[in-house]
Amino acid sequence: SAAEKGGYDYFMLKEIAEQPQAIADTLLGRLSERGEILLDEVRLTDQDLRDVDKVFIVACGTSFHAGMIAKYAIEHWVRIPCEVELASEFRYRDPILDRSTLVIVISQSGETMDTLMALRHAKEQKARVLAICNTNGSTIPRESDAVLYTHGGPEIAVASTKAFLTQLAACYLIGLHLAQIRGVMYADEVAAVVEKLRQTPDGMRILLDRMEEVRELARDLRTASTILFIGRHVGFPVALEGALKLKELAYMHAEGFAAGELKHGPIALIDEGTPVVCVVPSPAGRGVIRDKVVSNIQEVRARGARTIVIAEEGDEDVRAFADHLIPVPHTPTLLAPLMTTIPLQILACEIATARGNDVDQPRNLAKSVTVE
Ligand code: G6P
Repeated sequence: SAAEKGGYDYFMLKEIAEQPQAIADTLLGRLSERGEILLDEVRLTDQDLRDVDKVFIVACGTSFHAGMIAKYAIEHWVRIPCEVELASEFRYRDPILDRSTLVIVISQSGETMDTLMALRHAKEQKARVLAICNTNGSTIPRESDAVLYTHGGPEIAVASTKAFLTQLAACYLIGLHLAQIRGVMYADEVAAVVEKLRQTPDGMRILLDRMEEVRELARDLRTASTILFIGRHVGFPVALEGALKLKELAYMHAEGFAAGELKHGPIALIDEGTPVVCVVPSPAGRGVIRDKVVSNIQEVRARGARTIVIAEEGDEDVRAFADHLIPVPHTPTLLAPLMTTIPLQILACEIATARGNDVDQPRNLAKSVTVE
């Protein structure tokens, strides 16, 4: 009913709007006043976590993209090798696992069969398994050694939006927790990231309030034959997620690429007017990655692409290369997906509704896939 949808036409629109609260709820009680990470609820001992010498993150669909982003954060903060793998591929490859391997399984529903089978395989090999899950008491957290619940609230729309962002928040908490316990980050470094993390819901609210232009752009793009997405670093998985949302909701061809890889093949796809969504990192710090993405934007534009550029507000230099500029509030590089994903969700959702699709119940898809 309309009431259940909180006045929105679709659950998905409601769930997108709920994201700042979902992040705040997922952080609630897990950060101290002094900016420490408080994760006593995770039933792995500090000694277990100190013994970890390898992390695998295993998931499907949108949750897999959260894992891809987590890899950047965990390797940067914790300095332990971290691999991310699709659950459906993981166990058939005979991965190398033992007691000192931490396997993080990410699942909104907690019932995805591919992820469950990967988790069972990891346990058979004696790895420690930590679940990130949004559904209390579901199978995946029950079978895991430990769980960190995302507090996103029920997600009704089939394609994942708020669960994805809360999974990211959970991954950041785990990364910082590991770094804290293992002493690889100083307390004030952890506290500085925590402070930024705490501020993200405010930034997300500001961003959500100015999506009108994205809605207009969506109506314009509804007849495109393809939309390409490019990004580097954590912007690469964001590009993949933007493309996935478009496939799921709008049934349009879309693909995400690592921007640096374009020249090795995909740039041949660019034709006059091909829409390319470009996820630009923050120019803060040395801005090295940001500059690289900007030159990739110039490359596609020189071949006729119509560029839709998601960049940090105040990054005025990108304007010259943007047919459409979508500014997002400042966030440190590793946390930026909490912002940059939002316009991509809205873009996909609005293109889909402009095409007459039911975004809550896309054809051929299920909310939780309980077959392999
Ligand atoms: C299904 C859903 C996707 C979801 C994936 C993983 O395919 O349609 O939206 O990302 O499963 O689900 P999970 O519940 O394990 O996160």
